[in-house]
Amino acid sequence: MSVYDTMASDFDRRRALPDGVPEAIRDTILAAIGTARPAILDLGAGAGRIGRSFVRAGDDYIGADLSFGMLLAFAGSVAAPRLVQADGARLPFADATFDAVLLVQVLSGAHRWQHLLTDTMRVLRPGGALIAGRVVAPDDGIDARMKARLATILDDIDVHPYRDKPRDDALSWLIRTMPEHTVRTAATWTAERTPAAFLERHAGGARFSVLDAAVKQDAMRQLAVWATGQFGSLDAAFAENYSFELTIHRSQQGIPT
Ligand SMILES: C[S@@+](CC[C@H](N)C(=O)[O-])C[C@H]1O[C@@H](n2cnc3c(N)ncnc32)[C@H](O)[C@@H]1O
Repeated sequence: MSVYDTMASDFDRRRALPDGVPEAIRDTILAAIGTARPAILDLGAGAGRIGRSFVRAGDDYIGADLSFGMLLAFAGSVAAPRLVQADGARLPFADATFDAVLLVQVLSGAHRWQHLLTDTMRVLRPGGALIAGRVVAPDDGIDARMKARLATILDDIDVHPYRDKPRDDALSWLIRTMPEHTVRTAATWTAERTPAAFLERHAGGARFSVLDAAVKQDAMRQLAVWATGQFGSLDAAFAENYSFELTIHRSQQGIPT
């Protein structure tokens, strides 16, 4: 059972995108792919936060995920999605099957990212698009400041869940391997953030939730005390600018030699 199985039933509520954003992401992806009715693999599709808009529109879409719980939540949220339980490092598809592979908020939690990206490139058609997507939060926003403080609290007790940066490593590798790329902003919106909401959401985060229970409890207590001092109250609300960014890498020859 993966950590995502335990958070599956609640994942899309905690990480909800505003109305219209998943549709804007789909529009931007289809425009970037540029072929009629492309075959799309959404790898690490999760509970369907992004994929539902493709399923509803009747696209040639397959969602794949390691977590059965996430796929179950996806299947219960929309009629007849095409879903596969699979490890991205060993995909059950023939070479050159897809016009595009989506990786939305997957690379930051992917331990064997190099295997995952290599197999992703294998199933991509020559000239296809590998599309990495993520929510971009302000660098000085509530979430960024709370996360930095939490990392410091954990560093002080020699616990370092955020020290590895698989997403940065994976993106550098991708830029070296598939240098032809463009970055598009699919949507922008204003979100209301509070320290309390960060505490609730982060408690279920993939890297934090696997820590020792006593460590988690003490770290959250210290963080709440700090946030109350910094922001006046855990319920203090701040309007912040968010966006959804897509980095579109174009494959030339499939797997490089
Ligand atoms: C943060 S969630 C993002 C889900 C979805 N893309 C979204 O944006 O809502 C990351 C997902 O990637 C999946 N995942 C992580 N490593 C994977 C792998 N090696 N193969 C397939 N799925 C994987 C997890 O199970 C989880 O559902």
